[in-house]
Amino acid sequence: MNSLSPPSGATLPQPSTSSTRGLHVITWGCQMNVYDSERMSDVLRPLGYRTVGTPDDADMIILNTCHIRDRAAEKVFSELGRLRKVKEARAERGEGTVLAVAGCVAQAEGKEILSRAPYVDIVLGPQTYHRLPEMVARAARAAGAVIETDFPVEQKFDFLPADRMAPAGGAAFLTIQEGCDKFCSFCVVPYTRGAESSRPAQAVIAEARRLAAAGVREITLLGQNVNAYHGEGPDGRTWGLARLARVLADEVGIARIRYTTSHPRDMEDDLIAAHRDLPQLMPFLHLPVQSGSDRVLAAMNRGHTADEYRALVARLRDARPDLALSSDFIVGHPGETDADFAETMRLIDDVGFAQAYSFKYSPRPGTPAAGAGGHVPEDVKDARLQELQAVLRVQQDAFNDAAIGLTAPVLFTGRGRKPGQLSGKSPWLQAVNVDGPDSLIGRIANVDIRHRYTNSLGGVLTEETDRA
Ligand code: 5AD
Ligand code: SF4
Repeated sequence: MNSLSPPSGATLPQPSTSSTRGLHVITWGCQMNVYDSERMSDVLRPLGYRTVGTPDDADMIILNTCHIRDRAAEKVFSELGRLRKVKEARAERGEGTVLAVAGCVAQAEGKEILSRAPYVDIVLGPQTYHRLPEMVARAARAAGAVIETDFPVEQKFDFLPADRMAPAGGAAFLTIQEGCDKFCSFCVVPYTRGAESSRPAQAVIAEARRLAAAGVREITLLGQNVNAYHGEGPDGRTWGLARLARVLADEVGIARIRYTTSHPRDMEDDLIAAHRDLPQLMPFLHLPVQSGSDRVLAAMNRGHTADEYRALVARLRDARPDLALSSDFIVGHPGETDADFAETMRLIDDVGFAQAYSFKYSPRPGTPAAGAGGHVPEDVKDARLQELQAVLRVQQDAFNDAAIGLTAPVLFTGRGRKPGQLSGKSPWLQAVNVDGPDSLIGRIANVDIRHRYTNSLGGVLTEETDRA
């Protein structure tokens, strides 16, 4: 499925500005610094920062320095001494302060500043202002400050009713992780959703047991960065996603387990092994790659190359040969050239995707990419998106064609569009329609796949036994 909007569950909320924080910028030096100070204020606005006239009212103070005069560093240290007092006075009132040093002195004397003035939280040179929101979010969290979207994950889940109704169709979603620390250049999630955090394994297992008792056969574990899951286990140790999946399969007895969305960097060995060992782990993986160009991947701050993604896919397919892959793609990220785009097309050719979501890059205020140069014209993005979606469509159709002739277990989640028809999901997340009785809804039964339609498969029931 190609789509112009992000998949559900992966929407991009706009930053909240309901709680504002004070920002005080002290600017020394040239026009360039004046401009930079304004830019820093701009990139911090989506995080809720509003300029205030005095450092005493500021949750964040930026000293934007100039190196052109003599004794520039000494002047900086003497100003920092003054700001330290402001920070201490605020701390006594229970208010945190992020203190940042920017500009040319920061660039030249960064290490010296951190060692002589350890109360400084952030030092950033002029080339890194676009990363300021990322640094601020990290520093504020490290300082224990609360970013409005940043709340203990359990607290939120506590508001969910414990006796949550099981969905009728035998498939349920279960959120295990929230937030993201990856800071991809284009993405607003780390700012809006805050730091990565995981629910304790015991809470997840308890909820899965309730769902199973209510008849749920398939659970999709959810998280912005679900394979970064690192919840506290009942044994006091940190559990990864693979461990959690094993317990859900072997002890809770969930027939089908899925998880989404994953990051290639967090695809660890034990999770790959779980795809080999656990038949309950469904052979479908949404593993966004975004681009096939190493240059663009680096600009996106994705933390891996195209070949590393290819190698990862090879290892996954080695573990689970019938694994179907899905991805997200962005065309027209700032700086993307025709040659970069061709690399993306080559990666698509090499990997072969069962489905994918693709987007034209669109700037999100406050993200590094939005402030970068080299924005790609809209008509170029349109053309690239069309070309990419055409190839992905061919791949999706080929993947679905290959299912014709298979006998596949289908979880029936509800009625189909036509009377007497049931609709369900194959292990590879394909929609499958058959004629059959309502009594099969919420159950798994084998289907002979006979037809491929635009976005679904058709077949006939072979046996009406639940493969419990
Ligand atoms: N522009 C276009 N697509 C984006 N996505 C996230 N941010 C942007 C953006 N600024 C896409 C990515 C991500 C998916 C959920 O949305 O492909 O994986
Ligand atoms: Fe956004 Fe990247 Fe985190 Fe995904 S991994 S939520 S794209 S920052």
